[in-house]
Formats: sequence, structure tokens, C-alpha cells
Amino acid sequence: MADVTDVPFRSIVVQCGRPDVFYTEFVSAHGLASAGRERLMLDLALTPTDHPIVAQFFGTEPEHLRAAGALARELGFDGVDINMGCPDRAIMRQGAGAALIRDPGRAKELIHAIREGAGDLPVAVKTRLGLRSISEMNVWIPEVLSAKPDVLVVHGRTVAEMSKVPAHWDLIGQVASMARDADILCVGNGDVMSRAQGLACAAESGVDGIMVGRGIFHDPWLFAGHTAPKSPRERLQLLLDHTDAWVAHWGGVKSFDLMKKFYKVYVSGWDGAAHLRARLMEARDPETVRAVVAESGML
Ligand SMILES: Cc1cc2nc3c(=O)[nH]c(=O)nc-3n(C[C@H](O)[C@H](O)[C@H](O)COP(=O)(O)O)c2cc1C
Repeated sequence: MADVTDVPFRSIVVQCGRPDVFYTEFVSAHGLASAGRERLMLDLALTPTDHPIVAQFFGTEPEHLRAAGALARELGFDGVDINMGCPDRAIMRQGAGAALIRDPGRAKELIHAIREGAGDLPVAVKTRLGLRSISEMNVWIPEVLSAKPDVLVVHGRTVAEMSKVPAHWDLIGQVASMARDADILCVGNGDVMSRAQGLACAAESGVDGIMVGRGIFHDPWLFAGHTAPKSPRERLQLLLDHTDAWVAHWGGVKSFDLMKKFYKVYVSGWDGAAHLRARLMEARDPETVRAVVAESGML
């Protein structure tokens, strides 16, 4: 997830209970071929505890995806993915992300190109059921499968549905069956908020794996399975560890305000959490965050 699953946050998730596979934030393949490359390389930073990890790219030009695949291999990633599901207008206007659903010819060229660049790394595609109507999946999914990615990750909604309706796990099941017939692994995505729920969705739909997005905000310990509720002390320690890791990686590059969404995650579930959270939301720098946490007397 963009501005979420970076090096610092992955290190926190490893502390809490790691998933079987990590994904990077999506990275512009075009940006990697331009002056912005140096900044984007921070999105592709790796630490030893990240493995196995897939580098996700978006783009429109085969040569950019080919180069991105080669870069991922050089950097030591364990797989590559092309984003063909992002509904963000700025991304779709470029013809990337979910816009590729209406350009299957281009989508297939991109899959072939990234495979050439990535060599023996597995190639995945992450997409949605369609743009406007769920019936589009009957054309779009076979088109993607015909380009033979190793893995198809399907978010069970159309672009028009954004995240406003529940994910169609019944349709994810149909996609899984199409993928199985093509000998391609299928990962389902949408609304999974716990490990137990994910396992139940997998059993019902027949997917080979589950991708979790927003669920990690609901519970950073999600991948560890059922655990006792965490104490405020443990949550605040995680908050400080994350802040330190964030500053070490992004200090002077990204706005510190990007940390605030994580503070909402960590500081919840006890009397007085709302007050502490409000104070943290006003903090402009890590020093103030540390001072506010110290003043709370909970650590
Ligand atoms: C803040 C945020 C950033 C996201 N960034 C990406 C991204 O970079 N690449 C991607 O494939 N999906 C991205 N997504 C979509 C999620 O991967 C996922 O498909 C979607 O949120 C539905 O799954 P969920 O219900 O498990 O969150 C993002 C979602 C959120 C909320």
C-alpha cells in the first residue's frame, strides 16, 4: 500500500507477526526511467527480514516494465507484480493501473515485458473484476490469464465500486477457478480483517492465498492470528519504534504527517486513548511525539 508498506512499517509488522509474503508500495516504472529514480529507490529498499517480498510496479510502456523487472532482480526481490487495479484518477489518466482493464492488448505486452526483465522471478498481476460492471471479468480475466502470469491477485470489486460495497468473494471464487484451469495461482483480496476470516475466505473461494490491505490498520498483529488484546504500553512502544524507524528511513524526504495515520492505529482501545491521539495528531515532529508519549506516563 502506497505510503504504508515501506521499510519502516514492514519492520513493525515483522515484530508483530509477519505475513508469508510482503508487497512493496507500488512504484512508477516510468519514474524509475526518469530523474525521479533516486527518490523512488527508497520505495524499493530492502532489509533481510523483508523476504519473501514482491516489488510492485505500475506503468504503460513495455520498456519501462522490462527495466523495472530487471531492477527488481538485481535488487534481490523474490517476485514482481504489475498493478492493473489502481483506481486513482492520476494513475488511470496515464493509462496505468485499472485503465489497463480496457486495454488488454497493452496489459499483455506489459506482462511479457516484465517477465523478460525479471528473468526467473515469478510474475504477478494485481487487478479488479472490471471497470464499471462485474460482467467485465468474463472477458478481462481470461485476457490476463492468457499472458501467463504466475500469480493473479484479484481485488473482488470493480473500479466503479471503489471500496463502497463488500468485496464479491463469490466472484473471486469464480476467478480462482478460471486461474486453476489455466494452471495459474490465484490470490483473493478484499475486506479481510483477521487471519481466521482470511482462512475461511480461502477455504470457501478456493484461492491459493489471501492479500490483506486495510486489515493491518485494524490490527497490526493480524498475521499472528488470535492473540490477547495488546496493552497500551505495548501499543505505545510500537508507536515509538515505528516513529524511530520512519525517521531513519524517510526523515527529510517525506512529510512527517504521513505517520499520523499509524498513530490512529496504535492509540486506540483504552480510556484516554482519544485524548492522547488528539495530542499526537497535533505533533509536528518526532521529538514532540516522544514528549507527548512520555507525559502520558503509560510507558
Ligand atoms: C492507503 C492505501 C494504499 C494502497 N496502495 C496500493 C498499492 O500501492 N498497490 C496496490 O496494489 N493496492 C493498493 N491499495 C489497495 C489494497 O491493496 C487493496 O486492494 C484494497 O485496499 C482492498 O483490500 P483490503 O480490503 O484488504 O484493504 C491501497 C489501499 C490503501 C487503503
